Amino acid sequence: METQQTFQVLIADESHLSFAQIICDEMASSAKARGTGIAKRSPEYIQLKMREGKAVIAFNQDGVWAGFCYIETWGHGEYVANSGLIVSPNFRKGGLAKMIKRKIFDLSRQKYPEAKIFGLTTGLAVMKINSELGYEPVTYSELTQDEAFWAGCKSCVNYEILMSKERKNCMCTAMLFDPKDHYQPQETKEFFEEKKSVLERLLRFKQWKFLQPFLNKDSKDKDGKPANKSKKLFQQIFNF
Ligand SMILES: CC(C)(COP(=O)(O)OP(=O)(O)OC[C@H]1O[C@@H](n2cnc3c(N)ncnc32)[C@H](O)[C@@H]1OP(=O)(O)O)[C@@H](O)C(=O)NCCC(=O)NCCS
Repeated sequence: METQQTFQVLIADESHLSFAQIICDEMASSAKARGTGIAKRSPEYIQLKMREGKAVIAFNQDGVWAGFCYIETWGHGEYVANSGLIVSPNFRKGGLAKMIKRKIFDLSRQKYPEAKIFGLTTGLAVMKINSELGYEPVTYSELTQDEAFWAGCKSCVNYEILMSKERKNCMCTAMLFDPKDHYQPQETKEFFEEKKSVLERLLRFKQWKFLQPFLNKDSKDKDGKPANKSKKLFQQIFNF
């Protein structure tokens, strides 16, 4: 019989430095197992995030490492990315990623209240979690244009695809929370729930063929009113 796990989700600090290696190893092996690309991180980089108080780490009730995520800032703090989300395979499907993402989102809002928060993902689970936090799908053109951010993609196996698409699209779906202009979490959550199965099929389709051209976030319908919300969000993911 499976034991119900309980988790502690903490802001990481100096006392957690020794977990950096296992975190990096798990990030690399999970990406390999999923057959997806990932920006590679070194244990030193993970440790830096812990020292800076820009990471969240989770343990189970026995003190076993269970998950991690960290904050990066771009464009002189105009953008924040919540990156490197990882849950140990032993502890998946128990709601831990959701807890970690909530904690890192709250930490990001507290540290950088004016910043736009974004993430790139190939996974439906992360899209779902992001939707519950109020993120909406956006085109890459709405993300930071900071060269240092995009340089992080160089170590991903899909980098050539990204460049062949002139950095406008790739395997990952971009999602963003703009503190000054965002839907309510209930709205983005409902949208995700309604469209989940279609989104799943389209995510697969996206991996097969990229769709263009881009849709402007502020697109208007023929009467000059903002485009229908569902349609707009949908178009933004797949760039119809
Ligand atoms: C993706 C990952 C972080 C999810 O962690 P987790 O702790 O299992 O996620 P949660 O239990 O919090 O699940 C959140 C939601 O996503 C759903 N979900 C989880 N894994 C899923 C999957 N593989 N496919 C579809 N939905 C999934 C859950 O059912 C849950 O939905 P619910 O609220 O309806 O129950 C974990 O599988 C992982 O570390 N994967 C490898 C690294 C990775 O992909 N990181 C993301 C990079 S952007």
